[in-house]
Amino acid sequence: MRQFESKTVLITGTGGGLGRVAAYQFAADGAIVHGCDINEITNQETLRSLKADGLSMMPSTVDLGDSDAVSGWVNSAAKKSGNIDVLINNASAARFSTMDIITVEDWQYTIRNELDSLFYTSKFAWPHLKKNGGVIINIASVAAHHGSTAAGNTAHTATKGAILAMTRQLAIEGAPYNIRAVSISPGVIMTPGTAAILSDPAVHETLKKNIPLGRAGQPSDIVSIMMFAASEAAGYWTGSDLIVDGGMTAK
Ligand SMILES: NC(=O)c1ccc[n+]([C@@H]2O[C@H](COP(=O)([O-])OP(=O)(O)OC[C@H]3O[C@@H](n4cnc5c(N)ncnc54)[C@H](O)[C@@H]3O)[C@@H](O)[C@H]2O)c1
Repeated sequence: MRQFESKTVLITGTGGGLGRVAAYQFAADGAIVHGCDINEITNQETLRSLKADGLSMMPSTVDLGDSDAVSGWVNSAAKKSGNIDVLINNASAARFSTMDIITVEDWQYTIRNELDSLFYTSKFAWPHLKKNGGVIINIASVAAHHGSTAAGNTAHTATKGAILAMTRQLAIEGAPYNIRAVSISPGVIMTPGTAAILSDPAVHETLKKNIPLGRAGQPSDIVSIMMFAASEAAGYWTGSDLIVDGGMTAK
């Protein structure tokens, strides 16, 4: 039997790099995947890539910064599948600016698309998760663990740091209901969004110097950890973060 046979897994941001690979891998391992994205075109591409291999996903176009839209998505997924077993808060959109130039709009945009969104999905999935227990997997970042002189990370560090703190709280409140909450902090991962920058030879050389394992990560490096987090093998993991960055933060 496949590991997630008949398990209902909600994944946000399935039109993007990590979300697409997560949708594919969970569906391949038997899960009923509900994948949402604000970008209908890329989410449909994800669906096509799954279908090409005989897999499926229930796609929805949702703006995760709109609480009514999120409530509608989560409740309709629970109604269609009868349950929610796993929620993967993966979607994000940030504006990178230093304190000198960041605007109030940049700040609010980042909070809306990286933190409000995660609160809304978790809030509306909570009553469903409470029924039989489940897992919330929040995708944070190494930006939660250190600052950066290269990128203007003002708002992004705040949201990703908040995700670690909120994960701890969800774990404490969820434990009596057998709800686990964990976070994963990826380092530099090669996705369609980062490929252009990472294929620049100068950037590539800098990365090789700064990442002990000498390479950027692949989406599958993170998705395999999401799958572990969702599995029974991770049954005693809750309330903490796992950094998966090729050793970059350790250096
Ligand atoms: N790629 C990396 O190097 C890296 C590093 C550290 C952390 N992360 C984290 O991993 C996660 C996935 O990253 P990725 O590289 O796959 O990103 P990505 O940009 O490829 O995908 C993110 C997806 O989220 C969607 N999205 C954004 N705002 C939304 C909204 N309001 N409503 C619905 N959908 C929305 C986007 O349309 C996009 O498809 C993010 O949380 C990101 O912060 C990525």
